[in-house]
Amino acid sequence: MQAEVNAKSKVCGLIGNPVGHSLSPLIHNSVSSKMGINLVYTTFQVESDSVDVAIKGAYALNIAGLNVTVPHKVAVMNSLVDIDEFAKEIGACNTLVRVEGGYKGYNTDYIGLSRQLAKENIPIKGEDVIILGAGGASRAVNFMCGLEGVNKVYLLNRTLETAEGLAADVNKYFGRNIVVPMRLSDYKRIPKGKYTCIQTTSIGLSPNVDLAPIEDPEFYKLLKNAVDIIFNPVETKFMKLAKEQGAKTANGLKMLLYQGIAAYELWNNVIVSDEIQDEVLKLLEEAL
Ligand code: ATR
Repeated sequence: MQAEVNAKSKVCGLIGNPVGHSLSPLIHNSVSSKMGINLVYTTFQVESDSVDVAIKGAYALNIAGLNVTVPHKVAVMNSLVDIDEFAKEIGACNTLVRVEGGYKGYNTDYIGLSRQLAKENIPIKGEDVIILGAGGASRAVNFMCGLEGVNKVYLLNRTLETAEGLAADVNKYFGRNIVVPMRLSDYKRIPKGKYTCIQTTSIGLSPNVDLAPIEDPEFYKLLKNAVDIIFNPVETKFMKLAKEQGAKTANGLKMLLYQGIAAYELWNNVIVSDEIQDEVLKLLEEAL
């Protein structure tokens, strides 16, 4: 925690519902303490019908920056004075930066995943990738793939129409046919090969730790890297099944850390060193 919170402390925080188990205060307060920046970060539980009043109130209270989590990442966009172009395309904001007259919205989730893949030495440029799920989190992952120059994304979702809608948005934005929408049950149609797969559904999240979006071991033979954006449990069933077939696996803890670091850098106009990021990762691992 901060050595001292005083009258000059810059205040930042997280809005969402629920927020009681968030690891974001640990990330931001640890970075502040390690960098000697007088900033305090806490959580604000906000009901869905109060998002607009919360954002206006935060501005009135001189709050310097906010993170936004489930279920407000889309709704918050109606309460902002400006939105980063890429966040607008993704259709969700998880980071708000104080500007003249209100807040500007950004999406640092895709930056978080992109930094994680770089750190884990999982290159995706020019490669074919599989993404499971086409919900809110998946949108950021798909746009990240376009930005990183992925060759093709096989986008598998229970509801085909949702995958088709997301594929159309990504393909239009990047002006090329990157994303191929498919039904989750059609995984046998994916050409034989070795892929990086990013799991974005909520299946397997604690307490439902015995579930995976695809149970068939044959699917996991297609994978060389299996990244789950879930970090609770630390090893999801998706990761276990992939590991059994020889894939390298990672959970979503680093994505969480790096989206937070990217937000911190936007709020404070600083660069957080790799050394501090690694130290904070250790604290997160201990906290889980
Ligand atoms: P988030 O913002 O976390 O991505 P979301 O927008 O509700 O949450 O998306 C949840 C994703 O998990 C979707 O891809 C959803 O599939 P559908 O589009 O078919 O609803 C997927 N999902 C959730 N529960 C599922 C289940 N039991 N089986 C298969 N897919 C599931």
